[in-house]
Amino acid sequence: MNNHNFLAGLFFCYDVSYLLSSNFHATVAPRDLAVLHGGCVAFLVTPVANFDTLALPTDRYVIIIDNMNKNEAKKKIEGLREKIRHHDYLYYVKDQPEISDAEFDKLFRQLQDLEKQHPDLVTDDSPTQRVGGEPLKEFKTVVHKKPLQSLDNAMNEEELQAFDKRVREALEKDKIDYVCELKMDGLAVALQYKKGKFSVGSTRGDGVRGEDITQNLKTVKSIPLVLNDPVDLEVRGEVYLPYDDFVSLNEDRMEQGEATFANPRNAAAGSLRQLDPKIAASRPLDIFLYYGQAKLKSHYEILEYMKKLGFKTNPNTRLCHGIEEVKKYIKHWDTAREKLPYEIDGIVVKVDSISDQEKLGATSRAPRWAIAFKYPPMQAVTTVERIEVQVGRTGAITPVAHLKPVHLAGVTVKRATLHNEDEIKRKDIKIFDHVIVQRAGEVIPEVVKVIKEKRTGHERSFHMPVKCPVCGGELYRPEGEAITRCINAACPAQVKGRIGLFTSREAMDIEHVGPAVVDQLVENKLIKDVADLYKLEKNDLLDLERFADKSAQNVIDSIESSKNRPYDRLLYGLGIRMVGRHVATLIAQNYDSLEDLFDVKEEELEKIHGVGKKVAASIAHFFGEKENQQLIERLKKYGVNIKAKKARGPQPLKGKTFVLTGTLETLSRPEAEDLIRSLGGHPSSSVSKKTDYIVAGAEPGSKYDKAKKLGVKIISEKEFKKIALNE
Ligand code: IVH
Repeated sequence: MNNHNFLAGLFFCYDVSYLLSSNFHATVAPRDLAVLHGGCVAFLVTPVANFDTLALPTDRYVIIIDNMNKNEAKKKIEGLREKIRHHDYLYYVKDQPEISDAEFDKLFRQLQDLEKQHPDLVTDDSPTQRVGGEPLKEFKTVVHKKPLQSLDNAMNEEELQAFDKRVREALEKDKIDYVCELKMDGLAVALQYKKGKFSVGSTRGDGVRGEDITQNLKTVKSIPLVLNDPVDLEVRGEVYLPYDDFVSLNEDRMEQGEATFANPRNAAAGSLRQLDPKIAASRPLDIFLYYGQAKLKSHYEILEYMKKLGFKTNPNTRLCHGIEEVKKYIKHWDTAREKLPYEIDGIVVKVDSISDQEKLGATSRAPRWAIAFKYPPMQAVTTVERIEVQVGRTGAITPVAHLKPVHLAGVTVKRATLHNEDEIKRKDIKIFDHVIVQRAGEVIPEVVKVIKEKRTGHERSFHMPVKCPVCGGELYRPEGEAITRCINAACPAQVKGRIGLFTSREAMDIEHVGPAVVDQLVENKLIKDVADLYKLEKNDLLDLERFADKSAQNVIDSIESSKNRPYDRLLYGLGIRMVGRHVATLIAQNYDSLEDLFDVKEEELEKIHGVGKKVAASIAHFFGEKENQQLIERLKKYGVNIKAKKARGPQPLKGKTFVLTGTLETLSRPEAEDLIRSLGGHPSSSVSKKTDYIVAGAEPGSKYDKAKKLGVKIISEKEFKKIALNE
């Protein structure tokens, strides 16, 4: 009988549950067992496997196993839930965690293990029930107790002024207290609590009936499953996805070959309306609650009360005395909204006094005591001056609209992607059209729609070229696909694109070979693929324009030093479709050399966690091609490292996410990132609650402030090296 069964079968253990859930195995000799007073059992273990990963200080342990009875287990479970709820609240609602992720994980695993031992003690409101259960067949309908009304809009200051006038006249008051709130652009939901426990969560639907999305909402960590008071209550709020998470979700989807979401709102709504709760659980959705009913005099007090119950309300909410203060608030957020980590589309202005709200009442559509001041969307109107096509490194032909420059959300927009031929047809975009352009998050601007009323008749239709504008080669659009491609792999645009990716910072990081140099090298026929870079000699460069002895030497030196990059960078740099940085790392963790991938089977790759079917097919296809194999052989011949660094040492950073900011003294960025990867960690470019450490060098940027706000641990380069290298 192995130790695991022995423990699980005989005793209830809590102190070692953490070790056991870490796949820990140890041999226990009977002579090492001792029954202690009070029914506890102690034994001495000599760990044999997986023990080093726990990074415990010695190599022999006495483990005390407590033979708990049901009552004690119940008490322990309740105590753990209480603690976890408290820390969840500090982390997700207050943004002020007090314990490390590792400490939290430990509590969570203890609870999971206890619940596994005592399935009869599992309750719906346990924090372990947030992970997302079985998929549903369909959503049930929920009839809202009180309809979820909409809001009337004010599109400008006059309309806001008129709202204030109506309110003052109806209430016969000179000055009104208003609560001003950010109007989140997400999905409206209603949450019902019975005796302080979350019971049903629903979408707004048509206002009267919504869909029961309780399972999905339980995965939103900032929604409390248990309130601090056992009250019956319904609250309403908006679920949203922060920009950063939206961008990384889209990056992941792109990597996996899935369609991307057009904006954070669609991503949030799409996540909550999935029948499989695991999908919502995998996305970092968040919520702000903005409405609740309680026997209190003012909306502001209700919000304060909701906060006390454990709900997350927006910290930017303000009580304004009179409409002039409201206007100031609106003006402030008109520009400040660009810096928010989530999208808002306006400000909601609400009469604060509940008795005044009741006096004002509601129309069939919306309350008379509130109004939504709508900001013009982060959109702008401009004209299409011309449409050109770009040829990407995969040969994809992307039509791009060249626009009359327009100011939009802090930047000047000159171009917008039109995606593909079908999109142009669907939106009916013509040259010289007036169009609305928009930016969502950090996504490249796109044309939302054409203002057809502004057409004069002089607009010209755009036709996709029949020949590649760069090489003159044939274009091909496969049946059923949206993308037209240049099929000439030797097309200079593709060649430049492939080499450009290869030399980029994220790939082989060849410092002095930027896009302009790549253009020069390709146009002068010095290189035609990435392997040719390693054949270059200084004299080849001296013949080129703008090159002198020093600049030529710099190029040669940086190419030379790239030969030793970790092979996952090379793999990414090869530009295999659907293989982003993340997938490249996964592959490199599972295969020792690029040569091991020659003729690899799709099914084999699919076994790697995080590699989907399409990605596996794309990799298998790439390495099956003779030409690609030859390219890799040539790289190897020129001395480029194509192997995983052998003898993977200890992985002290396993599972930890690091963000670098500022200038480090002894390590360059790529060096620090490689070091993190090689020790099992994950370097990331954006700070979130999931970040474990920020490594701050000299003159750190805004990431530093964000980390501080989120309570992410900030460490110096020295401390980082201590953790990573024990230096
Ligand atoms: S109050 C009776 N407050 O805007 C209460 N709504 O256009 C009515 N919204 O469906 C809603 N942020 O989804 C309110 N701070 C906020 C809001 C907000 C976003 C959404 C909500 C509603 C829509 C109305």
